[in-house]
Amino acid sequence: MKHFLDLHTTDADELRQIIEHARSIKVSRDGRPKGMPDDEQALAGRIVALIFEKPSTRTRVSFDVGVRQMGGQTLVLSGQEMQLGHGETIADTARVLSRFVDMIMIRTFDESILHELAEHATVPVINGLTDNSHPCQIMADILTYEEHRGSIKGRKVVWAGDGNNVCASFLHAAGQFGFDLTFTGPMQLDPDPKAVGFARDHGATVIIERDPMRAVEDADLIVTDTWVSMHDAQSARERRHNMLRPYQVNDALMAAAKPDALFMHCLPAHRGEEVTSSVMDGPQSVIFDEAENRLHAQKAVMRWCLGL
Ligand code: CP
Ligand code: NVA
Repeated sequence: MKHFLDLHTTDADELRQIIEHARSIKVSRDGRPKGMPDDEQALAGRIVALIFEKPSTRTRVSFDVGVRQMGGQTLVLSGQEMQLGHGETIADTARVLSRFVDMIMIRTFDESILHELAEHATVPVINGLTDNSHPCQIMADILTYEEHRGSIKGRKVVWAGDGNNVCASFLHAAGQFGFDLTFTGPMQLDPDPKAVGFARDHGATVIIERDPMRAVEDADLIVTDTWVSMHDAQSARERRHNMLRPYQVNDALMAAAKPDALFMHCLPAHRGEEVTSSVMDGPQSVIFDEAENRLHAQKAVMRWCLGL
């Protein structure tokens, strides 16, 4: 069994195999009648715990549906309603859950919680977002980019806005999948220097460019995310909006990239804030393919974790 904790700690060849497997799962579901044994029954007799310490729509539904499509069952648990939220240690929670379920997906706060859970669990643990990373999202994003435009290797990805958890996983992916990443945003919200260092150490060109119009020149993909993440203090909302407003993804910014550049956003999006509706609903946007691909990518991740 293997944990799926982060992109930079997972072997690059194995990440590529997961993407290829996800692609074949998607094709096979599209192309064959429901109920075919290969994909459909891989998790038969298995139970997967889905723990949420933060809200979720896509992660919750895509994992739940993915497990069911593979013949397994889920337990969806809210962190606040578990003893985890009332003083039981992460390590003890990991030991107990491992006696009952076959795999654990957790959305939590600091990445140290995820790592403690994985250290003490005897079943695979999957990262469903922490304050620091969101690897499942980026697996779906790679799958989506490649479905539309072919290999992401050597492409120029621009991250506009907050250098947050999703941005960090994009930087890890730049190192693992061989693309370049330009970050454009305010200095106060620069991405995690360790993630930048990882990408550079693994051959990716990472550029920090404060001018958004210059940043997107020759871009193949423009990505943004909310200006206020779930772990950010609401009291910082106005200050963050003021800093981030120049980095909104709008028609003018998209027009400064390559004509066939794609737009991505992990969602939920705030229309009129980090991105305009005209971009979200425009011809370059692949945001709903991204959302759907969470399902296919995570089915491949879960099978990899269990060696199936
Ligand atoms: N993109 C994503 O993880 O969405 P949710 O917060 O709805 O799960
Ligand atoms: N950066 C966002 C992503 C939500 C899927 C957050 O952490 O709230």
